[in-house]
Amino acid sequence: MKKMAVIRKANFSAAHKLWNEKWSTEKNKAVFGLCANENVHGHNYNLELKVVGEIDAETGYVIDLKIIKKIIKEEIEDRFDHKNLNLDTKEFAQLNPTAENIAIVIYDIIRQQLDEKYALYIKLWETEKNCVEYPYP
Ligand code: NI
Repeated sequence: MKKMAVIRKANFSAAHKLWNEKWSTEKNKAVFGLCANENVHGHNYNLELKVVGEIDAETGYVIDLKIIKKIIKEEIEDRFDHKNLNLDTKEFAQLNPTAENIAIVIYDIIRQQLDEKYALYIKLWETEKNCVEYPYP
């Protein structure tokens, strides 16, 4: 059967502060810039989920997009949308919520919900210009 990628977009808004406790305030501000603002700040994150698999002969689908929509709603939006990632989520209580780390966390959450016959790739846009991809070959 032919393989194909199915892509679903989603978005959520969340606040964060990037910080390394081992560093001075000066170093944190130098490395993390505006993202080290002590009273936090927000981003409108745009997420792209790419699911790769074979087209099912009976449905003509790679995957029913309702399944992906439900996973995104229940596992990502309900968990992260309108949250302070540092304070409101267990995932980032100890993990710096950079786009890189958020992408890995999202990947791991969705991977657990998705049939293992599918390959999964995540793209996470933190701003209009900055994006990370995971996993990367
Ligand atoms: Ni930021």
